[in-house]
Amino acid sequence: WSVDNNVDKLNSYPQIAQASDLLKENEVVAFPTETVYGLGGNAKSDVAVEKIFAAKGRPADNPLIIHIAKRMQLQELAEEIPLKAEQLMDAFWPGPLTIILKKKRGSLSELATAGLPTVGFRMPDHPVALAILAQTELPIAAPSANSSGRPSPTTANHVWEDLEGKIAGVVDGGATGVGVESTVIDCTEEIPVILRPGGVTREQIIEVIGEVQLDPSLHNQQAKPKSPGMKYTHYAPDAPLTLVDSNPLKLQRLINEKRAEGLRVGVLTTDENKDVYEADVILSMGKREMLDTVAAGLYHALRAFNHENVDIILGEVFPYEGVGVAIMNRLEKAAGHRRIQL
Ligand code: TXA
Ligand code: MG
Repeated sequence: WSVDNNVDKLNSYPQIAQASDLLKENEVVAFPTETVYGLGGNAKSDVAVEKIFAAKGRPADNPLIIHIAKRMQLQELAEEIPLKAEQLMDAFWPGPLTIILKKKRGSLSELATAGLPTVGFRMPDHPVALAILAQTELPIAAPSANSSGRPSPTTANHVWEDLEGKIAGVVDGGATGVGVESTVIDCTEEIPVILRPGGVTREQIIEVIGEVQLDPSLHNQQAKPKSPGMKYTHYAPDAPLTLVDSNPLKLQRLINEKRAEGLRVGVLTTDENKDVYEADVILSMGKREMLDTVAAGLYHALRAFNHENVDIILGEVFPYEGVGVAIMNRLEKAAGHRRIQL
């Protein structure tokens, strides 16, 4: 199915109506959000939620994010909405921020929330997603629409690569904009805690609520993450990725060494550097000077390496600032935390 992003026309698109009807019948359907494609299902239905977990091969202890079109829906789903959560919604919804609140018992499938007393809510900033959510009038559980462990999908083709034959359909809204998943913030604590870095930066959050904590697992690999999903390996391409903290000249020397050993070497780089290297496969994620473009192209490049025949991948690193924090979080996971300094 294919639709364009013209907001006014969207409600009359048969694809939107069809997707909404399927969701109301407790089928699972993928659709674009501004971050990545989500695999949606009725969050009130155990049957629908089971289909999501089955299609993705997702561990049952990893709760799903609940997507809504209107803040009013929270009245029947959340136990309470602290002031700081309200302020974050005012500032960033619709947008790439998932807010964890105390769950109102019995309002959602227990499977969707993995039995936790809390639940993550998000209002996505994408016309197709919002149109579908509004037409169903349901809270829609939607994890990223990839097979568990693979990079999140930023195009309908990525979804199909992973889930063809396992889901009722995918609404094609073109490539997503942000490219990394939403920031997850726990607002059940007095000082909210960022559990997953994402599309909304820590700096932006501090501007709104003044103070925010970081889950210790984000800078200490030994600490147990509070977000169940953060403990799983993720995003890894088929060939092992190593992050290299260096400059193009020194990295080229390493590439030469590896090629001399007979290895086919891939380089995960940026537009600024892609013509500097000599290697077997060179893929750019985006412009280093515009980190948003790197976020947008990151998963596409990781997936693209699986269609190339390389033995190892060497990747550049980025500063831990702004969306660079989310980019590095995903790259470190994709690399299994292999990182060298030259
Ligand atoms: O951008 C996004 O957030 C995308 C789009 C489709 O909206 N969705 C997404 O969902 O990335 P998923 O399931 O791939 O990641 C959800 C993350 C997981 O790490 C999960 O453990 C965490 O959110 N999470 C969900 N509910 C939680 C809760 N109650 N407490 C702590 N972490 C939670
Ligand atoms: Mg995911």
